[in-house]
Amino acid sequence: MLHLNDWYETSFNESNYLYPLMQQEIKEILKGLQVDYTTTISGWVRTFRNNQFIALNDGSTNNNLQVVVDFNTFDEALLKRITTGSCIRATGKVIASLGKGQSVELIADTVEILGDSDPEVYPLQPKKHSLEFLREKAHLRFRTNTFGSVFRLRNALAFGIHQFFQEQNFIYMHSPIISASDAEGAGEMFRVTSLNLDKLPKTDNGEVDFSEDFFGRSANLTVSGQLEAELAAMAFTKVYTFGPTFRAENSNTTRHLAEFWMIEPEVAFNELKDNADLAEEMLKYVIQYAMEKHPDDIDFLDARLAEEEKQKPTNERAEFGLKEKLNFLLANDFERITYTEAIDILLQSPAYKKKKFQYEVSWGIDMQSEHERYLVEKHFKKPVIVTNYPKGIKAFYMRQNDGEETGRETVAAMDILAPGIGEIIGGSQREERLDKLEQRMKEMHIPAEEMYWYLDTRRFGTCKHAGFGLGFERLVQFVTGMGNIRDVIPFPRTPNNCEF
Ligand code: 4AD
Ligand code: MG
Repeated sequence: MLHLNDWYETSFNESNYLYPLMQQEIKEILKGLQVDYTTTISGWVRTFRNNQFIALNDGSTNNNLQVVVDFNTFDEALLKRITTGSCIRATGKVIASLGKGQSVELIADTVEILGDSDPEVYPLQPKKHSLEFLREKAHLRFRTNTFGSVFRLRNALAFGIHQFFQEQNFIYMHSPIISASDAEGAGEMFRVTSLNLDKLPKTDNGEVDFSEDFFGRSANLTVSGQLEAELAAMAFTKVYTFGPTFRAENSNTTRHLAEFWMIEPEVAFNELKDNADLAEEMLKYVIQYAMEKHPDDIDFLDARLAEEEKQKPTNERAEFGLKEKLNFLLANDFERITYTEAIDILLQSPAYKKKKFQYEVSWGIDMQSEHERYLVEKHFKKPVIVTNYPKGIKAFYMRQNDGEETGRETVAAMDILAPGIGEIIGGSQREERLDKLEQRMKEMHIPAEEMYWYLDTRRFGTCKHAGFGLGFERLVQFVTGMGNIRDVIPFPRTPNNCEF
């Protein structure tokens, strides 16, 4: 039998071991590679059955380790304190399990209560809680199976994204969080100020005098790191940002957050097709990475979603299970169509002919989510890259396509639409021609003087380039199958909600 000290000596530099605490990760123990040795574990009690079987979880996996205590030898007062939610440390022997549902279990020699949890008031009962209820207990929901799986996958996706770009020698660039520009030109920004709101300084014509503010001008939380990433791409060729972005849009939907994380690669010399290739390759890479890293969590969420779908009427059920959907994405090329083709498909669709769409369909519209969902879920049944949108509905920095008929001018934009999510990526080739860019900014009333730094890259050594923004939470939604974006970020910020 291997003793704790032997174990420590042989594995102290293995990542699964939290030395100097000398406690092993439950995930490692459950692999069952070794039995008949003594070890120590710590975690939170999920359930305590028959005064004998503790289901213990330490967050390394959503599978619990069964810790067996002998109620004849353990102090009764101590046994009483082993309750759902309490934190304990146990030392004992790992043995091959005779019981069903687990390969190994730990026969406890000692159990130490690290933190009590009064079962009368602990909000999480050992039963299924609704996601709505758990959202109100977001400080404790990490301790549930669903959120354990979601946030381990979120972590893997974040790391996978860095790995993908780092393997290709992209430079990770930190774009500023406080910014004076409105990159998307949408004006949905949170103001950052240190002015006393009860005594605002005013100019002669009665407006707030931001020259008295902290930065000597008005400033906001950034809506995107793109413009700064473009500047860096004009030196490093391949860059990406991965940071928080903020939008004060009053959208109470299952796809919108006021604070979300965005990944924005920007690549010099790339054109629209290269941009789409990069996006497709990246999505496939990170999804595969997360699936390989946490197969148990994917299995758990797959079963969870199947259960949830069963509650729905048959005609509303998703066609694919979670794993099926992800594997299908990995194995197939994304569909690529132009905006004009997309509109034609919608106009030809039975849904349109039967007047099933709530919003109108015609060339020039900003497609609504019902249209996007029709394209990906009903028509193509897979991710779709839509390119070349009407100029009138897109941002000023997108490259204007040459030789288009009047009234049908387009820009080299691309959106990637994913089943169940809608828009997961938005991007474009950028307008690198100074005269065209200046003219477009004038048309859209974007002050060129304030944006001199952006225009300078077009003045000095301009070149074609392209990039996109991936909404990180929408990616996590796609991979976990969670229906509400509030359930894939630890502490969601949405209209009227800034708890925790
Ligand atoms: O399409 P968007 O607005 O594009 C940009 O911000 C560009 N500057 C990106 C670029 O080209 N570098 O946003 C990009 C993505 C969307 O496709 C969506 O996935 C996500 O960000 N997103 C949101 N996610 C959650 N909550 C919101 N309110 C979001 N708004 C956009
Ligand atoms: Mg967009």
